[in-house]
Amino acid sequence: MSIMVIRKFTNYTLCLLAVSMEICVAYPQYQLLIPNAETVPHPCKPNYMWKGVGHQRNNGGGERNPFGRAFASAGKVFASRSIVPLVQIPTCANKTDQLEWVNCSYTDFKCDAANKPDTMNVTVRLPVTTVPANATTYMCMTFDLPSDKEYHLIAFEPVIDNANIMHHILLIGCQAVTHEVYKPYACGMTAGHNCSGILGAWSVGLSGLCYDEKAGFRIGQKGFKKAAIQVHWNNPELHSNYTDSSGIIMYYTETLRQYDAGVLVTGQTILNIPPQKESVAIEGGCPIECTAAIMNGPVYVTAVINHMHYLGIAQKTSVIDIGGYEKTLAYDKVYSYDSPVVHSLRDIFHK
Ligand SMILES: *[C@@H]1O[C@H](CO)[C@@H](O)[C@H](O)[C@H]1NC(C)=O
Ligand SMILES: *[C@@H]1O[C@H](CO)[C@@H](O)[C@H](O)[C@H]1NC(C)=O
Ligand SMILES: *[C@@H]1O[C@H](CO)[C@@H](O)[C@H](O)[C@H]1NC(C)=O
Ligand SMILES: *[C@@H]1O[C@H](CO)[C@@H](O)[C@H](O)[C@H]1NC(C)=O
Ligand SMILES: *[C@@H]1O[C@H](CO)[C@@H](O)[C@H](O)[C@H]1NC(C)=O
Ligand SMILES: *[C@@H]1O[C@H](CO)[C@@H](O)[C@H](O)[C@H]1NC(C)=O
Repeated sequence: MSIMVIRKFTNYTLCLLAVSMEICVAYPQYQLLIPNAETVPHPCKPNYMWKGVGHQRNNGGGERNPFGRAFASAGKVFASRSIVPLVQIPTCANKTDQLEWVNCSYTDFKCDAANKPDTMNVTVRLPVTTVPANATTYMCMTFDLPSDKEYHLIAFEPVIDNANIMHHILLIGCQAVTHEVYKPYACGMTAGHNCSGILGAWSVGLSGLCYDEKAGFRIGQKGFKKAAIQVHWNNPELHSNYTDSSGIIMYYTETLRQYDAGVLVTGQTILNIPPQKESVAIEGGCPIECTAAIMNGPVYVTAVINHMHYLGIAQKTSVIDIGGYEKTLAYDKVYSYDSPVVHSLRDIFHK
């Protein structure tokens, strides 16, 4: 799935997007050969295991880590430290060792516009809410946006309360809401039929989003007056005593910017992964009939985020114009769920 932040302009048609994704799974039989290999903790995420013990990626596949290289060169036999002489033996790997396998660096939220004197902010958080002992839970809460005037929403920052279970947060504009505001409710992958305008998205590894300086999402009198946050909790070990009160800080201004921003989510969400394959490419997108139906004028693409879960290893998002010319917008040759890349673009697409 790709999340594109776009700003709207005047008149043209554009054919958009092929998303491809390759999927690869670890060979779990190797885990059986290595003592305690199924209990290697993920160094960045307390509630997760490092399943691909020999690999850079948490779920295996792709490049090997130092332990994986040693294991392979020893003929994929684990006998003792003398046969696998490197320090990165999973059973004794400590945090420092494992941090060499994965980049856990989280950057601070930097957004000049958020600190400007005419920028206001509002924080919306779930009240302290029990996290159910379910592997996956989507929890939503609707709330009122500032609506006394017209505003542009220009940045968005997460407030993470319980990092053990937090997977992603979406901020979604609503046309109308039927749920009581400020009251969390279990929801599906959408917050409700009247809430569908994505205004911001956060997932593990991002520090927040600072929108293109020429554009903002319209909220208030001529825009969204209500919104919902949707948090996705992962609780794979089914702990029953977690709570969470995560949320977001929104930055907005009444100094309206030149363009209105929007988000296009495109790609493929129904995946058939055949067995016994090392990788598989899956495509999805919004073809010309689709863009014609949803865009009534030219669009500038200002940022693209590729998004998959732990099985995804590479992803590309591109735009194909009416003449068949393909321009790559965002290519993560090595996709890592834990370090999403915001591809900021300066190019303008028009015809
Ligand atoms: C953890 O790793 C560091 C760096 O590799 C090493 O100096 C330290 O001795 C290790 N600790 C244990 C308990 O293995
Ligand atoms: C880890 O990520 C940070 C921030 O994105 C980057 O500056 C750094 O170079 C990365 N380190 C490695 C080893 O990839
Ligand atoms: C939000 O706005 C208040 C009042 O202007 C300010 O004191 C505070 O620092 C801002 N918070 C953030 C996170 O920028
Ligand atoms: C948790 O799982 C149970 C059993 O599958 C289900 O009945 C319940 O609705 C789930 N709770 C939430 C909040 O999703
Ligand atoms: C959407 O909003 C309309 C108008 O307020 C309301 O009648 C309808 O029930 C809402 N639909 C849902 C699914 O919330
Ligand atoms: C929460 O539950 C887990 C087991 O499900 C237990 O190990 C942990 O100590 C509990 N934490 C608290 C604060 O009760």
